[in-house]
Amino acid sequence: MGTVLWQIGRTGETVPEYVLNYAENQTADYPTTLGAYRFAELVERQTNGRIKVIVQPEAELGAEKEVLRQMKYGGIDFARISLSQLAELIPEMNALQMPYLYRDSTHMWEVLSGEIGDYFLEKAGEVGLVGLSWYDAGVRNFYTSQKQITCLEDLQGMTIRVQESDMMADMVEALGATAVQIAYSEVYSSIQLGEVDGAENNWPSYKAMNHDEVAKYYTVDEHTRVPEMQLVSAHTWEKLSEEDQEIILECAKESARLERRLWKLQEKQSQEKAVKNGTVVIEISDEEKERFRAAVEPVYQKYCGEYMDIIERIREL
Ligand code: GCU
Repeated sequence: MGTVLWQIGRTGETVPEYVLNYAENQTADYPTTLGAYRFAELVERQTNGRIKVIVQPEAELGAEKEVLRQMKYGGIDFARISLSQLAELIPEMNALQMPYLYRDSTHMWEVLSGEIGDYFLEKAGEVGLVGLSWYDAGVRNFYTSQKQITCLEDLQGMTIRVQESDMMADMVEALGATAVQIAYSEVYSSIQLGEVDGAENNWPSYKAMNHDEVAKYYTVDEHTRVPEMQLVSAHTWEKLSEEDQEIILECAKESARLERRLWKLQEKQSQEKAVKNGTVVIEISDEEKERFRAAVEPVYQKYCGEYMDIIERIREL
């Protein structure tokens, strides 16, 4: 647990009983960070200042992989983490982020808000974490610095940055490119230095991290939706009273509702701003998307062979 302070009881002074940290790798004005700030504000208010949550954005506490490692031992209390990273520890989570799995955002939210979503929040318990809520991260697309991606053939021979995730690397390789796993904060420089030809992400990340400055061709192939989870370390959780746990869960859900609303707005605004700054948007026909979809089929065998029942349930929803 971050720090524990004790009530010193001077009149009129609110001294928190718990001061807990919250890791976030996005910028301060990003929807997930604004969700985190709201969470902190709600928790403080509803515990009358007994619990204070300090949000540390911009990967101040480290890259997601490192944050997860620290949470296991209680060195970091809360975090919002991309499912790609979590699936490295709990392989079954891949079933929620497979390429071309969801028809659209509504379909994904139907899955996350129902039994399947609850099942996976609970699954976090297997690695010393407690899943609190789901955050939106939209849909991911490719973007490149020199050569546009207009069809599957254009990806052949390219080097593309992916998250530190084997599934994501295999997905990109199945599409014909070479994948390189690089932490989020290093993407800008690796494109700028020409170490990779491009990367893939949603509109808000592309804009917030200024990737549009170094990779102006943005291809809307919508290859994957990767949801995000708000988590607390089980070490921290176990030290809190049941009453406080309930407050935290409620505040997390409330913050997630705000994040989803902000996400929609920022997705649109980021795209508009990028286009205004010179981003070239390349649309892909449904026929071509079908070819992308067929190319990634083997990745399902490799990562979801054992979980095809969940994949089927998701598809049927
Ligand atoms: C998204 C996600 C981040 C993640 C990033 C990445 O932006 O919100 O948590 O680190 O993708 O591509 O690494």
